[in-house]
Amino acid sequence: MDAPASAVGLVTLPRIRRVPRTEPIKAVRGMRDILPWDRAIWRLVEKGAADVAARFGYAEIVTPVIEPAELIERVGEDTDAVAKELYRFDDRGGRHLALRPEATAGIVRAYFEGHLNQEPQPARLYLMGPMFRYNRPQKGRYRQFFQYDVEAIGSDSPALDAEVIEVAATWLRELGLRRLRLELNSIGDAKCRPAYLELLKAYYRPLKDQLHGDCQRRLETNPLLLLDCKVPQDQPFKAKAPRITDHLCEECAAAWAAVRRLLDAAGIEYRLDPYLVRGLDYYTRTVFELFPSNGAGAQDALGGGGRYDGLAQAEGWPPTPGVGFASGLDRVVELVQAAGTEVSAAPAAEVVVLGDTGLEVVVAEVARICRSARSVAVDYEAKSLKAKMKSANKLGARWVVLITAGEAERRIAQLKEMASGEQVEVAWADLPAHLA
Ligand code: HAM
Repeated sequence: MDAPASAVGLVTLPRIRRVPRTEPIKAVRGMRDILPWDRAIWRLVEKGAADVAARFGYAEIVTPVIEPAELIERVGEDTDAVAKELYRFDDRGGRHLALRPEATAGIVRAYFEGHLNQEPQPARLYLMGPMFRYNRPQKGRYRQFFQYDVEAIGSDSPALDAEVIEVAATWLRELGLRRLRLELNSIGDAKCRPAYLELLKAYYRPLKDQLHGDCQRRLETNPLLLLDCKVPQDQPFKAKAPRITDHLCEECAAAWAAVRRLLDAAGIEYRLDPYLVRGLDYYTRTVFELFPSNGAGAQDALGGGGRYDGLAQAEGWPPTPGVGFASGLDRVVELVQAAGTEVSAAPAAEVVVLGDTGLEVVVAEVARICRSARSVAVDYEAKSLKAKMKSANKLGARWVVLITAGEAERRIAQLKEMASGEQVEVAWADLPAHLA
């Protein structure tokens, strides 16, 4: 006899954890709500990002949050973001999908599908939106987080490497984050990197037994990541490892020199970090990361990026160079907040219209009249006038419009300015002029 479907399901499906019916349902671990009082500062950070992008000639693009899993998997064989951290699932049609862990792969896909490659090059694009990585949540690291991503696709000019760095630096500086550390490296390209990797492997092989587990595996699968290792026991070996910037081909060396020259000319300070290789596989030549100057760990990185001249081809499109960066908005917002920047969470309402119970239609009409001048909230709750005044005050309302049944017949209201306590009688039709 065939096993019942549910039994088959039990065998093949992972165990589903259900919330007991007696418990309230909470947000998914590692994902959080951005509450109204924090949104004001988020808006400031996002507006700054959009403004700076526009000033540098970058146009906004929006790509889906869900992408074919293969798009992400193909561009990063051994990276953490792909190997362990990808939210992968199959849809009802059996398609293998993923929640995007980053934006670059999707933007490059969209660049071709949207024929941006036929427009003047490079295509300068930016995107803001949620990304998803199944990692261990901690302060500054979330499973859903937001990125500001900037890409220049279709040119291999090192001037663009410097330009995207300048976009990031300008944005953060204008947000008041002046004490930043920019770390810079070049990791060569398909021409010079293979020979360097052989050198690196030859250096590490005799040390293999002394490396920790992940690094032993990386030695064969992705030796460049050995330089990225943060495990204390492996640190002494790194210091003596060959440096890729000593083994660049002529073109990569010229580009590397040009990027540094351009950054010098732009007055952007940087630190050369021979161990900076970045977590994603697709990089070529310039790679960089931005940190707050007092931070040390990878968890503090405010952003990172680099050139990815092999990415388009890895996705199955014609070979096309590109460079970009992405910054974690959650972390930038936290720093801007910590720096003491205050943005008044604009009150939900400047005017609160309140009236006697049973006057809902009238109250709504007065609110409609006032709305031509100011933002208006209506208090429909059945509670005392005193209680209504108290909550209007808490809401931060500048004015309260009081409606009583008797006055409503004469189409007049009491307009009270909360700060001064002054109250005047105003005809409904004159309310906008008083509030203007
Ligand atoms: P990434 O270094 O993987 O690069 O991420 C960029 C930034 O996103 C990080 O520096 C950090 O600020 C933020 N971030 C990453 N993971 C988390 C997390 N779990 N929680 C909070 N913030 C996080 C990329 O994503 C590349 N696509 C950048 C790029 C664009 N390269 C070329 N173009």
